[in-house]
Amino acid sequence: MAKVYAILSGKGGVGKTTTTINLGTSLNKLGHDVIIVDGNLTTPNIGIHLGAPIVPTTLNHVLNGQAKVEDAIYEHESGTKIIPASLSLKESEKVDYRKLIDFARKLKKISNNILIDSAAGLGEEAKSSMLASDEIIIVTNPEMSAVTDALKAIKLAEELGKPVTGVIITRFQGKPVEMSISNIKDMLEVPILGIIPEDDAIKESQVMKNAVIFTHPKSPASKSYNLTTRRLLGENVKFEVHKKGFLRKLLGSLGIQSY
Ligand SMILES: Nc1ncnc2c1ncn2[C@@H]1O[C@H](COP(=O)(O)OP(=O)(O)OP(=O)(O)O)[C@@H](O)[C@H]1O
Ligand SMILES: [Mg+2]
Repeated sequence: MAKVYAILSGKGGVGKTTTTINLGTSLNKLGHDVIIVDGNLTTPNIGIHLGAPIVPTTLNHVLNGQAKVEDAIYEHESGTKIIPASLSLKESEKVDYRKLIDFARKLKKISNNILIDSAAGLGEEAKSSMLASDEIIIVTNPEMSAVTDALKAIKLAEELGKPVTGVIITRFQGKPVEMSISNIKDMLEVPILGIIPEDDAIKESQVMKNAVIFTHPKSPASKSYNLTTRRLLGENVKFEVHKKGFLRKLLGSLGIQSY
């Protein structure tokens, strides 16, 4: 059955767009059909990250009734399908975010996996992504401020009756100043889907306008995104060790096996 996932965080800049692109391309690589939607209508980034900043038909046109859903779908060289939003400030101001709900319903007839990269914060824009989705994926960094905002996003999802599939912790470095994985798990009370390390390969992939799983398939971030995707698909995948010994100890204390 087709499913819409909204990728949200609360706090901005934690890695939602990077995560959406890499989960989407990883799912696609595993043979699942996917469409990535730039639901961050005020500050869209998907097109920029994937080298399609300006396209003739955007999500904005579809939401405004000026184009059909099919006309706004573009295929990236990786094979992943994307629906970019308009970079024009004027066009983003005209959009009624609530139309995302009907739009997502239509998309489910075209693809089985729809990933909506959402806006930061918990305002109308982010809320509309939640309402348009079947499940929510939360992205956070291992910092108190980001985790606190992630908790607010989870509470909002609960209020709206939307299940949270899990949390993806990005830019993990295993430093003592970071919040521990076990503290994050205790605070958020949702499954951990993935732990993505801080990795320069991410920035290099963005310069190359492609997903890190394609540009740097052997990088730690790429491996972690692939494992995260398999967990999203329901596989029981062990957690990887990013810092020898350190994460193993933490995961062990959670009762999670690592290799
Ligand atoms: N694992 C990582 N290692 C290193 N840098 C990363 C990693 N993940 C994301 N980044 C960097 O963090 C920055 C923010 O990432 P991204 O744009 O994906 O966040 P976002 O949550 O979508 O932001 P916004 O809230 O503005 O939409 C980018 O510069 C990106 O290159
Ligand atoms: Mg973003």
